[in-house]
Amino acid sequence: MEVVIRHTAAEVAEVAADILAGYIRPGGVLGVATGSTPIATYHELIARHGRGELSAEGVEFFALDEYVGLDHDHPQSYYRTLRDELIDPLEVDPEHLHVPDGTADPHKAGGIYEEQILAAGGIDCQLLGVGVNGHIGFNEPTSSLNSVTRLKTLHPQTVKDNARFFDSAEEVPRHVLTQGLGTIQRAGRLLLIATGANKADAVAKLVEGPLSAACPASILQWHPHATVVVDEEAAAGLANREYYEFAEANKPE
Ligand code: GLP
Repeated sequence: MEVVIRHTAAEVAEVAADILAGYIRPGGVLGVATGSTPIATYHELIARHGRGELSAEGVEFFALDEYVGLDHDHPQSYYRTLRDELIDPLEVDPEHLHVPDGTADPHKAGGIYEEQILAAGGIDCQLLGVGVNGHIGFNEPTSSLNSVTRLKTLHPQTVKDNARFFDSAEEVPRHVLTQGLGTIQRAGRLLLIATGANKADAVAKLVEGPLSAACPASILQWHPHATVVVDEEAAAGLANREYYEFAEANKPE
């Protein structure tokens, strides 16, 4: 695992956009995330698109997760969020955005989504945020390390954390569809970004703690090409920071 530390969230977005831009090419398959953390990275990609430096033509986009029961027009559905924050500003035809179907039979929607990913040839690079409890996608602690896209119940902490996007916590759906930890592991590359002091614990656990279902994001330790990009605040709990900085400064050609 490669750990990259930057001073500010804006610098994290720049590093993340540089990495993602390498996968935004005809035939590319990009896994995208929601939540507040990736927004600055998406702004950076959109700005590059606006300057004519980047074209997402011929790229397929796959979301990590979706709320059960919210349709495409619901403002808090991850489909709508990704359309508004990334797909439409990048001028991508929405038929190239794939999101687990929150209105389909939730017991079948996961398997269908797995088939869609396979049919696209797999995800080249999956962007990830991390929840304060170490979740990725909506894989809460104790999720099977080998899970596939499936129906899950949210942790009460996640309901609380995500209530800020809704009018009240009661409106946050309790059930979701999420790529599994096995699905995420099959992506060619994993890029996790985290910013802010409230992510410091989760970052320390996922980078330096044991590989454990208690911290789903720790599966990045098992992946052959995982990169974690964090700002100062999110890096605050890392014990081996000096090594990560040394390794970055002395990267082989
Ligand atoms: C949600 C999403 C995750 C995201 C996490 C953190 O639960 N399902 O994909 O990483 O929240 O969100 P934020 O970036 O807003 O802290």
